[in-house]
Amino acid sequence: MAHRPSEEFEATTVVQWTRSDNYHNSFLLPADEALEFTLKNSEAKGLPPIAVSAAQGEFLRLQALVMGAKRALEVGTLGGYSALCLAKGMPEDGKVLTLELDPERAQVAEENIAHAGLSSVVQVQVGSAPDTLNSLPREEPFDIAFIDADKTAFPLYFQLIKPLLRKGGVMIFDNVVQNSLVSDPEWKTIRVEGIRKLLQLIKEDPDFRATTIGTAGEKGYDGFLYAVKTA
Ligand code: SAH
Ligand code: DHB
Ligand code: MG
Repeated sequence: MAHRPSEEFEATTVVQWTRSDNYHNSFLLPADEALEFTLKNSEAKGLPPIAVSAAQGEFLRLQALVMGAKRALEVGTLGGYSALCLAKGMPEDGKVLTLELDPERAQVAEENIAHAGLSSVVQVQVGSAPDTLNSLPREEPFDIAFIDADKTAFPLYFQLIKPLLRKGGVMIFDNVVQNSLVSDPEWKTIRVEGIRKLLQLIKEDPDFRATTIGTAGEKGYDGFLYAVKTA
């Protein structure tokens, strides 16, 4: 009989996904004082707990490492957790430019980045990301971009970052699955419509190949869209 996984297992829940993340992380992720401080300090300063998971952060770090990335761009800093993950995958002379609208969040991120000893690598730019992106020179392209701010503007971020990304560079978008709601035709909030428009843009763009990496873990069922600029 054909292998039919969806019929062989009961549906699992975020409790089991969290157990699984914790189990795998216990083997794969050494304790990281700077990242732990970042989460604790961010919570203490009232930031919402919406950073990427530890496992997702490690993926960003490994991606920067395997690419030999020296220049990373991030849209949506919050407390700097994912920016630090990217920085940890880069050499000492690497640069992470991370964009944040909210000056109070940017301030908390600066504290966390300083605590990690990475202030010379990670630069937080306060302001609305589209304005900042429009001001960046194309002569200094990025190897990798992580896009994790307002989901409604994801199509705009794709268009603005494309000319800032080197050939062979990668854009990674967070929250593209949203507990499968992005694929639910009945669900019409702007938060999912932005992802749908992004998918359509990538479909129509011959310069990109992309795949969605769905993740069920401590942050729920969600996913990264992983898009490589091939031309
Ligand atoms: N990448 C972070 C989490 C980012 S949460 C991490 O994983 O650690 C999304 C952030 O995007 C929020 O802090 C929010 O203030 C910011 N944001 C929302 N709209 C923005 C905009 N137009 N420009 C810049 N940042 C924005
Ligand atoms: C939210 C934003 C995120 O980037 C995320 O990963 C999870 C939740 C939010 O705005 O609720
Ligand atoms: Mg996110």
